[in-house]
Amino acid sequence: VARESTAAFAPGRVNLIGEHTDYNRGLALPMAIEEGITVRAQVHSGGSPHERRIHASALELGEEDEFQIEHPQRAGGWRAFVRGVACELTSTGFALPAADVQISGRLPRGVGLSSSAALEVALCLALLDLAPAGSGSLERREIAQLCSRVESDWVGARTGLLDQLASLYGAAGSAMVIDFLTLEIELVPLTLEGWRLAVLDSGERHVHASSGYNRRRAECERACQLLGVASLRDATAERASDLPHPLDRRVRHVIEENQRVRDTVAALAAGDLPAVGELLTRSHESLRDCFEVCTPGVDAVVAGVLRAGATGARMVGGGFGGSVLALFKPGHPLPAAAREVRPGPGAQLVA
Ligand code: GLA
Repeated sequence: VARESTAAFAPGRVNLIGEHTDYNRGLALPMAIEEGITVRAQVHSGGSPHERRIHASALELGEEDEFQIEHPQRAGGWRAFVRGVACELTSTGFALPAADVQISGRLPRGVGLSSSAALEVALCLALLDLAPAGSGSLERREIAQLCSRVESDWVGARTGLLDQLASLYGAAGSAMVIDFLTLEIELVPLTLEGWRLAVLDSGERHVHASSGYNRRRAECERACQLLGVASLRDATAERASDLPHPLDRRVRHVIEENQRVRDTVAALAAGDLPAVGELLTRSHESLRDCFEVCTPGVDAVVAGVLRAGATGARMVGGGFGGSVLALFKPGHPLPAAAREVRPGPGAQLVA
């Protein structure tokens, strides 16, 4: 018997290190955070069986949306994610019922904490739970792929799987190393011994679709063609240095960033938090100078927080604005604007 009502929670994420590696089949070390998005959904009995509709409310925004499940029209903002998830689930074969959906959560939007992935994943879990028994199921990796299709086909950002996998596979107290070549995910205990991670909003908003994100992806694809490799996972530093500018720098970032992920995992295992801080700062410099996705405003926040005594800091997420992640040693006060982040559980159905 199909369920009449359900609720799902999906967390945002912070990527400790491994930026712009996901769509290059590299490595990343994200964690789900404690804050996220909750989607409640109830089957809606009214309406005609020929025109099943979803009515959605974004509670914090005080905004609503309503659309036909079979033929959703395009829309902007948060509506694109909701319509996109419903449409992708329908085309995957799930006969979604007419439903009322309420979206809530205190995850700030547009600051690099992946509120959009949290929304997609929570909605996907909730709607799947309402789909009639027998319509099948999706594995978590398939849910991540479906949500990523929503980003590219409905929102126009050709993002990778980092944000959705982090939200789906998070675990309290752990980060996870994701290998985007095999999609293997391994939890990495985040034993901080009093050290603290915090994010600072740069105040500069980023909009992936209109930013250089897609351009960076295209540059990486071009570099693969020139190098004759299937992905930058197979690129070597020697060959990369022969590429024309700026492709040489782009590839160098990806190769070195993968190595920084491995080094961070080793430093965490050894309890060497100063080394983790150093790797964060190296990652930032590479994103700024080689991958060129950092804005002056975000760079100034990194410089400021390092001056204020952080052990390491870097821009997080796709870049072109967004947030900064910083590591502070035990007892060091956090800057007033910083919000501490802790690794929280992954997406799940909730009561
Ligand atoms: C954004 C994208 C991710 C990933 C990061 C950069 O967050 O959504 O897929 O590419 O940028 O690491």
